Amino acid sequence: MGDARLLDVARPVLAFDTAPLHALIADLEDTMAHLDGAGLAAPQIGVGLRVVIFGFDEPYPDEDSVPYTVLINPVLTPLSDEVEAGWEGCLSLPGLRGLVPRWRHLRYRGFDPFGRVIEREVGGFHARVVQHECDHLDGILYPMRISDLRSFGFTDVLDLQQEPEE
Ligand code: NI
Repeated sequence: MGDARLLDVARPVLAFDTAPLHALIADLEDTMAHLDGAGLAAPQIGVGLRVVIFGFDEPYPDEDSVPYTVLINPVLTPLSDEVEAGWEGCLSLPGLRGLVPRWRHLRYRGFDPFGRVIEREVGGFHARVVQHECDHLDGILYPMRISDLRSFGFTDVLDLQQEPEE
């Protein structure tokens, strides 16, 4: 946080199944695995393209499993007005966590690295992860979405006081 590239609007990917695109995805995968994250967006490694990865084989405690996904040029459409607050962290803001309102149900559409369409309707934690990652493509970090900044702090301090709520 503080790097101006995290505040830029990323550009669409124009060509699929190219060596540079596959190299970018490999970099994202290595970085996410190294930092043990649930998702990562290209701007977080300094690349201004509309590429996100998210998901994991092992479900997070008390959360739905989210299939590992590479999503390019995503478009998100909320499926209802329902909003839910949940705790989020971000690899670009290590050590912090905040309570962030997100759409409960949404449809997302985009492409895989080979240009094949991905279209899913999801809810809950899956919907939250997608919204968090796709916000990075528009220069939005989760603290900008927090409605009550009293629910924002250092993870180790928050852990001493309360269990995260969903
Ligand atoms: Ni993030």
